[in-house]
Amino acid sequence: MTYYLTTPIYYVNSTPHIGHAYTTLAGDILVRHHRQRGEDTFFLTGTDEHASKVYRVAEAEGLDPYDYVNQIAEKWRELPDRIGAEIDFFIRTTDEGHKQFVQEFVQRIYDNGDIYEDTYAGLYCVGCEAFKTEDELVDGKCPDHDIVPEWIEEKNYFFRLSAYQDRLLALYDERPDFVQPGFRRNEARSFIEGGLQDFSLSRAGQPWGVPIPWDPEQVVYVWVDALINYLSALTYARPGEDLRDRYWPHVRHLIGKDILRFHCVYWPALLLAAGYEVPRRIFVHGFLLLDERKIGKSLGNVIDPLELVGVYGSDAVRYWATRSVQFGQDGSVSIDSLHERYERELGNDLGNLVSRTTAMIARYRDGRIPIAPGLGDTAAFEQIATEVPRRLDDFDLTGALDLLWDFVRGLNKFVSDAKPWELAKDEANDEQLDRVLYALADGVRAVAVALHAYLPETTPRILRALGQPEDFSWSRVAAGQTVGAEGIEPATPLFPRVEAPAAAA
Ligand code: MSP
Repeated sequence: MTYYLTTPIYYVNSTPHIGHAYTTLAGDILVRHHRQRGEDTFFLTGTDEHASKVYRVAEAEGLDPYDYVNQIAEKWRELPDRIGAEIDFFIRTTDEGHKQFVQEFVQRIYDNGDIYEDTYAGLYCVGCEAFKTEDELVDGKCPDHDIVPEWIEEKNYFFRLSAYQDRLLALYDERPDFVQPGFRRNEARSFIEGGLQDFSLSRAGQPWGVPIPWDPEQVVYVWVDALINYLSALTYARPGEDLRDRYWPHVRHLIGKDILRFHCVYWPALLLAAGYEVPRRIFVHGFLLLDERKIGKSLGNVIDPLELVGVYGSDAVRYWATRSVQFGQDGSVSIDSLHERYERELGNDLGNLVSRTTAMIARYRDGRIPIAPGLGDTAAFEQIATEVPRRLDDFDLTGALDLLWDFVRGLNKFVSDAKPWELAKDEANDEQLDRVLYALADGVRAVAVALHAYLPETTPRILRALGQPEDFSWSRVAAGQTVGAEGIEPATPLFPRVEAPAAAA
């Protein structure tokens, strides 16, 4: 099995906020999970650098646009690592390899006859980097960016999107899971059904971008340039290797709901026009909201993910973002809720479970895990082993985590019901105490393996504390795989207490 996952590529006109970190960390959880299942995975993220707003910011600061993007792209390049994401390639649309591929791609569409020259006259929102119609505006302004769009009149090359309407509808009908969740699929499908207009694939009179190969006075429209990254990366991510055959047929795009049309309508049409297969799946997630408003630069209510990671660690941020908001829906988040989940769920439910388990093994069995199977709730193990992958195949990151957390809480209940401290008072209970301690260690071990994709920093520490091999293969999420180990000591707290940051007060 092969699993290729992409995040959107981020605009470099600002620095990362928690809304951006959200897509990347969610993607990393999915890819890590598939890697645990032994699949051949590839995870791509990067930066979208040819936007006119980028050019304008550089101009305003008196910088050469290349110097400007090089400087800011570094901040974005750090992001995956800081939130614990293991990526396979970081693409920048200013890479030579990308620019060359974009030219080949649009040339193919031109040669196939789906590009023609015409004049564009209309409104353009630099915030969206998109053309707008009057009925999309609220009080004459773009509702997403709260700015008045500019009037533009220029010669452009147009892409014959209208010619793809029927093929797109057929695609949506043949593949009901092409876009998920279902309500997003319906949204995209009704947009197509409403009639598709040809759109400008180039922009005139601006020097920043990839030149149109047959008319270098024009540059490729930034959204077309950006979408092509998902394919271009495979042609040069590994020098001397072309990864397109290996990964393209398995590509899944993870995107936010604001960029649905570009991905679910324009992109498949462009791919068909250039002779490529359409993506395997597009999953559309919702927005993280703060006080009911989308977190974002234009609204000035950003939460700096790196600051949160500095205080709580990347695992806690990954946990909170996926657990607090049903993945796919919009949902409110706050630093208070992060603090609370950190203490109550990570600290108490999981951290204390590991501390108690190791402390009891140290105290009652001299640090030796007794091999005494028999008490483990095998049905519960089986449920997470089969149901978590099923949910993650459907991008249900929240539902899968809920199941895992039920398992963690089930182990806590098992300890309070079995009362090892009572059993330890009488030697007659020795065998029963062995069985309880084994079941506990085995449950903690298995759930650590299953939680690995969410908590990649913490879970190796759990396995080490229990003297178990650091093998995160999914097949290890099964009862009875705990091996005998000696020298177990009470584990140091996994999630030590932290001061609530001032912003949370
Ligand atoms: N450059 C384009 C994408 C091109 S992909 C071929 C772009 N960039 S962006 O930086 O503005 O946004 C990138 C992603 O971040 C989008 O998926 C967007 O939905 C997501 N988010 C930005 N703010 C967000 C929240 N507050 N919550 C969740 N995700 C949001 O669009």
